[in-house]
Amino acid sequence: MFITLEGMEGAGKSTLAEGLSELFRREGKAVCLTREPGGCGLGETLRHVLLNTASRVTPETELFLFLADRAQHVADVIRPALDAGEVVISDRYADSTIVYQGYGRGFDKDALYRLNHLAVRGLWPHKTLVLDVPPEEGVRRAIRRNEKVGSTAAEGRFEAEELAFHIRVRDGFRDWALKNAPRCVLLDATLSPERLLDAAWAALKRDWCGQARGFSRGE
Ligand code: TYD
Repeated sequence: MFITLEGMEGAGKSTLAEGLSELFRREGKAVCLTREPGGCGLGETLRHVLLNTASRVTPETELFLFLADRAQHVADVIRPALDAGEVVISDRYADSTIVYQGYGRGFDKDALYRLNHLAVRGLWPHKTLVLDVPPEEGVRRAIRRNEKVGSTAAEGRFEAEELAFHIRVRDGFRDWALKNAPRCVLLDATLSPERLLDAAWAALKRDWCGQARGFSRGE
């Protein structure tokens, strides 16, 4: 079972990822919790280049670095975990490239779909939860988080984009999620973390109540 979490900065993906992992573990399932960029050894290096405010990379370089990171991430982490029967939850994946580099930076979305398809060798998620939050709120939360973990200078390249970029990204996620239903499910990320977790779990459960026996909230 391969699940990805998407949405703009500050939408609450990592908190949700932790919550879902915990619920799956309570069901006795092995979970591989991972993220992009930076989910594998090579990715950690790429992450530094991609998110560093001082990196002067062109949009084309940025695109191919995200794809390179993803190709290696799939080969090293995601496929082996799926082959071992684990539930894989990735904080960002291919849809991020289509939305940020497509809707955000203006690259052709069909071309981005094909490039992603090639990078991941056809491995698309079973379910993608897209967290929707107003752009101003998302950026505010992300900047607060960066300050808290002291990474403002090192990892703020996307947060530093102008508001118009974040609006395109937010609208892009909504549009892309609707076009890719039922794989993609749009969730209201202004909910409290607890209620968002409930909504996410219910969305997954709707899909897999037949497939995954014993799939309950597990409390
Ligand atoms: P990260 O620090 O992981 O932030 P977040 O908490 O928002 O996930 O930063 C990832 C940034 O990289 C984020 O701003 C989105 C961007 N990104 C792309 O532009 N394209 C991609 O393919 C991916 C995976 C991320």
